[in-house]
Amino acid sequence: MNKKAFIFDLDGVIVDTAKYHYLAWKKIADQLGIEFTLEHNELLKGVSRVRSLDIILELGKIEASQEDKDKWLIQKNEDYLTYLVDMDESEILPGVFTILKFLKEKNQPIALGSASKNARPILEKTGILSYFDAIVDGNDVSNAKPDPEVFLIAAKLLDTKPENAIVFEDSVAGVQAANIGKMTSIGIGEESVLHEAKYIFKDFTHIDTSFIESLIK
Ligand code: BG6
Ligand code: MG
Repeated sequence: MNKKAFIFDLDGVIVDTAKYHYLAWKKIADQLGIEFTLEHNELLKGVSRVRSLDIILELGKIEASQEDKDKWLIQKNEDYLTYLVDMDESEILPGVFTILKFLKEKNQPIALGSASKNARPILEKTGILSYFDAIVDGNDVSNAKPDPEVFLIAAKLLDTKPENAIVFEDSVAGVQAANIGKMTSIGIGEESVLHEAKYIFKDFTHIDTSFIESLIK
């Protein structure tokens, strides 16, 4: 039996923060007169803060100075953080706890693989930090998803070969990162968006423990 590792993205997989990222970016886009729809937002999921701003500016065909970009990046994060102030475990997405608990019972290594620099406080506020044997976040990587760096570091920290790692992702960039890293990609969300994933589930309530058990074997 090969030792497996389970790597979870954070935003939109464990917690419902993807909507807060969207709202904070939408404010900046509105301010700059750039049309920014939920469909455009799919391009930002899994993508670093800096790259997200560049994508929005590209959508609006706006060229900006570094000074302005830095200002908007700070504004976006300050606004995003206001949504996290009252965050608690109620923000954990349905079914996530069941799967985390099951993996713990089965002694499976668990890591976080997120592009976010706000990952740790979110795990603390929601009370699930202790489930993770390793945390790799936006502070640890230099290459954004779809580069597999974040997941490769996580697999290494869990002492598992990439081929034996299983990645839960809600973003196209994240699914691609897992695939490029030769890991098993599990898309959480819409099939129409995440069709590159090996398996796709609408949310964690659709994943039963026998499926997880089949991955462990
Ligand atoms: C990813 C989100 O998890 O983290 C992106 O999907 C976000 O939308 C990125 O831009 C960076 O997050 P943060 O919290 O460092 O701005
Ligand atoms: Mg995500």
